[in-house]
Amino acid sequence: GRVRHYKWEVKYEFKSPDCYKKLAITINGRTPGPSIIAQQGDTIIVELKNSLITENVAVHWHGIRQVGTPWFDGSEGVTQCPILPGDSFVYKFVVDRPGTYLYHAHYGMQREAGLYGSIRVSLPDGESEPFWYDYDRSIILADWYHASTYEQAAGLSSIPFVWVREPQSILIQGKGRFDCNAPGIQAGLCNATNPECTPYALTVIPQKIYRLRIGSLTALSALSFEIEGHNMTVVEADAIFNYYPNHPRRNPPTVPPPGPRWNDTEPRLAQSIAMKSHKGYIHPPPQTSDRVIVMLNTQNLINGNVRWSINNISYNLPHTPYLIALKYNLTHAFDPSPPPDGYNFVNYDIYSVAKNVNATTSTGIYRLKFNTTVDIILQNANIRTPNNSETHPWHLHGHDFWVVGYGKGKFDKTKDPKNYNLVNPIRKNTVAVHPYGWTALRFRADNPGVWAFHCHIESHFFMGMGVVFEEGIEKLGSLPTSIMGCGDTKGFHRP
Ligand code: C2O
Ligand code: CU
Repeated sequence: GRVRHYKWEVKYEFKSPDCYKKLAITINGRTPGPSIIAQQGDTIIVELKNSLITENVAVHWHGIRQVGTPWFDGSEGVTQCPILPGDSFVYKFVVDRPGTYLYHAHYGMQREAGLYGSIRVSLPDGESEPFWYDYDRSIILADWYHASTYEQAAGLSSIPFVWVREPQSILIQGKGRFDCNAPGIQAGLCNATNPECTPYALTVIPQKIYRLRIGSLTALSALSFEIEGHNMTVVEADAIFNYYPNHPRRNPPTVPPPGPRWNDTEPRLAQSIAMKSHKGYIHPPPQTSDRVIVMLNTQNLINGNVRWSINNISYNLPHTPYLIALKYNLTHAFDPSPPPDGYNFVNYDIYSVAKNVNATTSTGIYRLKFNTTVDIILQNANIRTPNNSETHPWHLHGHDFWVVGYGKGKFDKTKDPKNYNLVNPIRKNTVAVHPYGWTALRFRADNPGVWAFHCHIESHFFMGMGVVFEEGIEKLGSLPTSIMGCGDTKGFHRP
């Protein structure tokens, strides 16, 4: 493969992606940042300079497995120390499989300040997908808040709790539209004619086939993306699907069709269940598993703070990254007791507000035996308000998993596994857990390293909705010193 070298400067800049001026984190002046375009087998080198002045940073390559380079996964506290203001850090990894991936900040809640972009990995020369297209386009969907990530993080961790609430805008490829006439907007902050908030327009040529790579990096929202029947010109909310040579500034002539209601989860569950691997592209999972971990997702009060917990443990990131702590036996770096593999099934009522859950916070992790097959069942439940259960998109670093089952209600260990799809399940790295439901996934613990597994809703992970897996770290050679320098690794000097 070839080497693709990128030089990035990460910085706060005033931007008006939805016409409202606020600080955004940019890469080389842009948000979304530059796309990484590569071919299978290429080596990506990103030289990142942190010019944020007062904030650390780390960047995660979402969906890239980092086989042999777990230290460049970019999850702060898990695989590396944060990159300090003024410092540079070099990420170097191989994109070993074709596909559509994303990258985004993995420090605090910086992702929603705009630090993200897309990665497109094409097939090797001479190979092609089983479908034809004339053009290939990437579109990133995101939601956008006018409050700073600091303000949001402070609210989430204070007593009384301050929720981030709904985003102010939805961004399509970094463009959105806030109503500048909304009450309470300070004069001069919002300018509807600012060219920075000109809606994203995709100009297309009739009869040509477009491949759209849609990625969602929303902080909170679950979005549906549609492009109505071929003769329609409107796709969704702010996007303009424009037939050349119409002027891209002209508004679409029809209003967007109504989609399912935001809280109507039935179509989403049905869609999840309907997805199967395509014939000819089926990679069946191992037919049995060595370990089953059931993860009950709950919302609790811990010392007066609202937190998310998995089996009554709310996750906290340590100051010393696990990868370094485990490799160098820094035994005080994190809680040595692992979180539990399950919870009390018999007595737990997922439909009511949990009264006495005794949840605690911990930095403990799951240690997986190398090359074993692991089943994870994510069990959803009622939150702290009655008759309420939310959707959680869980993302696993370092692996793809097979989604072997979905169900409503409480997972039944004896009955439900019999209905797993072990024939043609799809492989993913992010999967939804629907309200009051469960999702079962299976993966091979075959990638030496330490890997985060967490809800991708920015505020949920911040509030403890995640776990960490370790597998095969004894197989790893020496770690690059560039990932060190924080917590108990302070004496381990960076070059
Ligand atoms: Cu895309 Cu740990 O996240
Ligand atoms: Cu969540």
